[in-house]
Amino acid sequence: MTFSLRHIAVAALIAIVVLTAFLLRSDSSEEDGPIAILDISGDELLARGEYLSIAGNCASCHTTADGEFMAGGLAFETPFGTLYSTNITPDADTGIGNWSDRDFLNSMRHGVRPDNEHLYPAFPYTAFTRISNEDIAAIHAYLQSIPPVYQAAPENELSFPFNIRPLMAFWKAIYLKPGAFEPNEDQTDEWNRGAYLVEGLAHCSACHTPRNGLGAEQKELHMSGGEYLDRVRSGAHRPWAAPNLTATERGLGLWTQQDIEDYLKSARNEFLESFGPMNQVIMNSTRFLSDSDINAMAVYLKSLPAVDEPMARMPDSQIMGRGRTIYNLHCGACHLPTGEGDPEMAPRLNAGSLVVQSSNPASMINAILYGPESPGHPLPPKWREPMEEFQYQLDDEEIAAVASYIRNSWENSAGVVTPAQVARQR
Ligand code: HEC
Ligand code: HEC
Ligand code: HEC
Repeated sequence: MTFSLRHIAVAALIAIVVLTAFLLRSDSSEEDGPIAILDISGDELLARGEYLSIAGNCASCHTTADGEFMAGGLAFETPFGTLYSTNITPDADTGIGNWSDRDFLNSMRHGVRPDNEHLYPAFPYTAFTRISNEDIAAIHAYLQSIPPVYQAAPENELSFPFNIRPLMAFWKAIYLKPGAFEPNEDQTDEWNRGAYLVEGLAHCSACHTPRNGLGAEQKELHMSGGEYLDRVRSGAHRPWAAPNLTATERGLGLWTQQDIEDYLKSARNEFLESFGPMNQVIMNSTRFLSDSDINAMAVYLKSLPAVDEPMARMPDSQIMGRGRTIYNLHCGACHLPTGEGDPEMAPRLNAGSLVVQSSNPASMINAILYGPESPGHPLPPKWREPMEEFQYQLDDEEIAAVASYIRNSWENSAGVVTPAQVARQR
């Protein structure tokens, strides 16, 4: 028989779950209070909405490389399958042209569509829920002013049971704490502004906080380093480690307030230039923010209490010796044998890079395997020549050895990298 009792039991369970989820649909518009449109002129409102949409980096996720502005269709690879961003231009049929301010607020704060369908948290509403009603209304006004584009989002390719949207009601009941940001009275205005931006619009924690098996951020490990799939220079998707932004010795404790400001403002600081996924964050978003907002974000980031990561095993002398030989042969010409780097050739690796010292070496391995991708236009090139990719020149063991050597030489002490960790990034 193809239909066993187990099948029937599973089907019944799913039916119950879907039904309950349907009844759990959130409609909390009452407690959200009035949608306050800022009391400023139309042009000022649009300018404000545009600024906020840049701070939220909407365009990076809602615009494909050769697609129309905000018309969606960008693919997101997740452990649960592929999903696509939607069209948020004011087209009435395929975009959000018919949405009211309240509909838009519900999507940003509660992750629901006007028809009460639940949205997936790849749309970072767990952070956007913190945005004030005024700011959400300003973003909506701005989005309504951009050219409408007729373009439907591709069908998602998610695995069962994640393809059942009503199930998201359970996820949200557990993991979404809806509500605008509430200032902490014990902190300065600057700190509160920074917290509002970092935890809300800028959604840094969407990548920098580890997630559990159901894809939810782990509160107790807030900002202590996450991992997710993103594009490497070859175009393929690979795991990336977003390093620890709390005040640890190998995390953001390595950087001064000024280092953070320079990095977010110009993609560069005293030691290094951004590469990988941070290019989009900085080039499409943070570099356009006002000096006072960047200053506030850095103040808040510097205040995050240290959340230590597990310490990895130290490499033995054989691995270190092997790593040094490979380093001096393939890397030392640019990064220098002392790891100090050179202002024209390569960043220093001996201290200051969170990527090098992160307990999860995935991003560092990506840089070596595929080559770090510079932020590019419109920044003038910083380096005389780009670093090449080493995926064909060095095998897993060699890359593991050289990575272990860098991570544990000079002032660094980040533990061994195994050949298996390199193989995982290929
Ligand atoms: C990290 C990527 C990401 C960012 C950043 C992002 N979005 Fe999205 N957004 C998505 C994805 C993916 C979806 C589709 C979710 C789904 O299908 O359940 C989505 C859906 C939406 C929806 C629902 C549209 C619909 O038709 O149901 C709205 C509204 C929206 N986003 C607005 C915004 C705004 C405004 C910003 C900037 C403040 C923004 N998004 C930033 C990824 C993102
Ligand atoms: C889309 C995911 C994503 C978002 C959003 C994101 N980051 Fe990152 N971040 C990464 C990854 C991945 C790395 C490591 C690779 C790289 O530098 O691109 C990283 C690296 C960093 C580094 C260390 C850079 C280095 O080279 O040592 C800092 C500092 C940082 N991010 C700060 C932030 C801040 C502040 C925000 C919010 C404004 C933010 N990030 C938002 C993914 C993200
Ligand atoms: C031709 C000069 C050159 C050589 C050779 C070279 N690199 Fe690089 N490397 C660079 C440049 C330039 C960057 C910065 C790219 C950017 O971020 O814009 C970089 C960045 C890096 C980073 C990222 C550092 C950070 O946090 O920003 C790592 C890790 C790295 N290199 C490791 C290596 C290793 C390991 C080798 C040898 C196997 C190597 N490099 C060989 C030029 C070089």
